[in-house]
Amino acid sequence: MILTGKARLAGVMGWPVAHSRSPRLHGYWLEHYGIDGAYLPLQVPPDGLERALRALPLLGFAGANLTIPHKEAALRICDRVDDVASRIGAVNTVVVEPDGSLSGSNTDAFGFVENLRRGSDWRGDRGPVAVLGAGGAARAVIAALLDAGVPTIRLINRTRARAEALTAALGGRIEVSDWDDTPSILDGAALLVNTTSLGMTGQPPLEIDLAALPTDAVVNDIVYVPLETELLRAARLRGNVAVDGLGMLLHQARPGFTAWFGTAPEVTSDLRDFILAELAR
Ligand code: ATR
Repeated sequence: MILTGKARLAGVMGWPVAHSRSPRLHGYWLEHYGIDGAYLPLQVPPDGLERALRALPLLGFAGANLTIPHKEAALRICDRVDDVASRIGAVNTVVVEPDGSLSGSNTDAFGFVENLRRGSDWRGDRGPVAVLGAGGAARAVIAALLDAGVPTIRLINRTRARAEALTAALGGRIEVSDWDDTPSILDGAALLVNTTSLGMTGQPPLEIDLAALPTDAVVNDIVYVPLETELLRAARLRGNVAVDGLGMLLHQARPGFTAWFGTAPEVTSDLRDFILAELAR
């Protein structure tokens, strides 16, 4: 697509930003739908975030995504944030309103649930959910699970205090256990989600015995490098439906693209293959 003077503009602010897959992802959709628009990597240092966000309307940008380390700081800078973003404590999508004000949202929770629903027959009312990890990603996962109406979330984290803090922030139906209590959190669970970085290429393995997990439970790893983690492989081998983490990355991008470029994009197998090839580069 060759841009015109009317091209719609968006981008991703990060520090560093070079690792971000978002320019390729949004670029794929822009080309696929023949949209006169551009999505750029925006290298913004932490002390410049507020000025960079405030410059978006000035430069005619429709909005931006935020990645590490800007998601939490953006929450305070936006003129309004939606309920999910304020509960998660992080903004990943900013939309410039017609009056030049900034609306912040968090689409990670949406991406998580969309990925899970499309990859399995999981529903929130099917039973308790076991969650491993209490970092930034866990906040989005747990907010999404609570909104999906799960009866109980059984949460464990290496650093228990972090799990307690997350529970205090998100409230509701979360039970915290010790990191070595996996058999008891898996017993009778309808879904197991790994939100830790364990099992990711270059990180330590996730060592977990799935014996107590019902074989009709769904297993989801938010790690997507490798696409099939040891956890997902072990789950598939014993008959569990296993959902990989790539879809969360792809689906979380949809609401921003729709808001900025005016077309609701689809996550297709072609798009998955395109991003997988990117990840392998
Ligand atoms: P993210 O925003 O991607 O979730 P994070 O906030 O750094 O990243 O969280 C990483 C998660 O992986 C945390 O739950 C972390 O546990 P701690 O809170 O105890 O740090 C977990 N994690 C990372 N390395 C781990 C390890 N070697 N053993 C157990 N848990 C680990």
